[in-house]
Amino acid sequence: MEFSPYRKVTQMTSAKIDLNGKTLDLPVITGSEGEKALDITHLRKETGYITYDPGYVNTGSCSSDITFIDGEKGILRYRGIPIEELAVSASFLDVCYLLIYGRLPSETEVGEFAEQVTHHTMIHEDFKRFFDGYPMNAHPMGVLASTVAALSTFYPQGGNNDLDLNILRLLAKMKTLAAFAYKKSTGQPFMYPRNDLNFEENFLYMMFAVPAESYEPNKAIVDSLRLLLILHADHEQNCSTSTVRMVGSSGANLFISIAAGIAALSGRLHGGANQKVIEMLEMIQGDNGDYEKYVKMAKDRKSDFRLFGFGHRVYKNFDPRAKILKASADKVLNELGIDDPLLEIAKELEEIALKDEFFLERNLYPNVDFYSGIIYRALGIPTSMFTVMFALGRLPGWIAQWKELREDSKWRIYRPRQIYTGRTPDDLKDGV
Ligand code: ACO
Repeated sequence: MEFSPYRKVTQMTSAKIDLNGKTLDLPVITGSEGEKALDITHLRKETGYITYDPGYVNTGSCSSDITFIDGEKGILRYRGIPIEELAVSASFLDVCYLLIYGRLPSETEVGEFAEQVTHHTMIHEDFKRFFDGYPMNAHPMGVLASTVAALSTFYPQGGNNDLDLNILRLLAKMKTLAAFAYKKSTGQPFMYPRNDLNFEENFLYMMFAVPAESYEPNKAIVDSLRLLLILHADHEQNCSTSTVRMVGSSGANLFISIAAGIAALSGRLHGGANQKVIEMLEMIQGDNGDYEKYVKMAKDRKSDFRLFGFGHRVYKNFDPRAKILKASADKVLNELGIDDPLLEIAKELEEIALKDEFFLERNLYPNVDFYSGIIYRALGIPTSMFTVMFALGRLPGWIAQWKELREDSKWRIYRPRQIYTGRTPDDLKDGV
């Protein structure tokens, strides 16, 4: 499986910067969709200055061929293909292949890929003992991050020749680890994967089947899961992906780097928001559906309460994933004959927030996490597993970004600088 980088970056103009009487030319680089950046690679060497950008709001850490987002227009494309198109016609494994290897697979290729992923789904028997050590109420994201890191001890990466095999292993085994983490929390026996099932079916089987009872995954549930996984599959340089690149940039093994990404995803401002959204909607439900009280709290500068599932660093008009999921939530609940009062609460909350000056001024719109939890609930996924579901979807994106970094001939260790604001030796002399 070959990777051919596309990298359409042009350098036509330059910007000038005057610092202490010295003028420096900064090349302007332009990406294939017209995005522009000032190339400051030589800034410190030439001037002694660094740039200061807390939260990396204006910082491009890499160039990448994988995913394009236009936050103003609400565009998200994987390898040039709009997610709306993939959401209709692709399988999750098609999207994994697309992200990792740069193009959609042929029928033969995806057949072979699926076969390989299926045959790597089992985990080493010794590995099951890891699960004995966790408390029953361990959060599954902690279990997932630590067990994925532990995979590196079973499959140490010798060289690049192992990479394709380790990618298959990771794609296959992470869903087994996720399902086992859930089984551990319920005290039920682990269910071993079945080779006659596809990716989504196998995961649902390992989650919900119990011995001595037959289990056939429902078609509507399988298709919803496919859609959710695809919509979460990559999102360029977000917090967890940058973490995967950061850890990978030190030369760390694939499994360990992805484990770090899972850890970053778990936070409530990132992937952990999907769990928080449902907890918030339940809180509103338990408070007689008083949405306005919560909108008021979210606007109160003295309170640290936020409307979870609202706002995004990049999307400033709408999140295209949220748009697809809102429509899908209605469809799935209908198909499954579920009447979830939380869906109504979510819609009312969205309507109120979208008319409010505070949210309008700050461009705060529902993000991918706002409706995904309602769908996970309808599929029978427990709330504590929501962020794990996000991680399963994001896995191919993390792998693709890690691989792209490591195959880049200009790959360097990630090492930001800082402005030191602590005490100086003179302060210490003065007894500060
Ligand atoms: N509810 C209320 N106020 C909000 C919200 C929210 N959900 N999001 C942002 N704001 C306000 C901030 O308080 C700030 O107001 P101020 O200018 O008066 O101080 C302003 O909007 C800008 O917010 P920042 O936090 O500076 O924006 P940033 O780009 O750093 O953060 C983030 C983006 C983390 C997504 C933020 O909108 C948030 O916390 N949302 C809720 C958590 C969430 O849903 N996270 C999932 C994001 S999608 C993902 O990771 C998959």
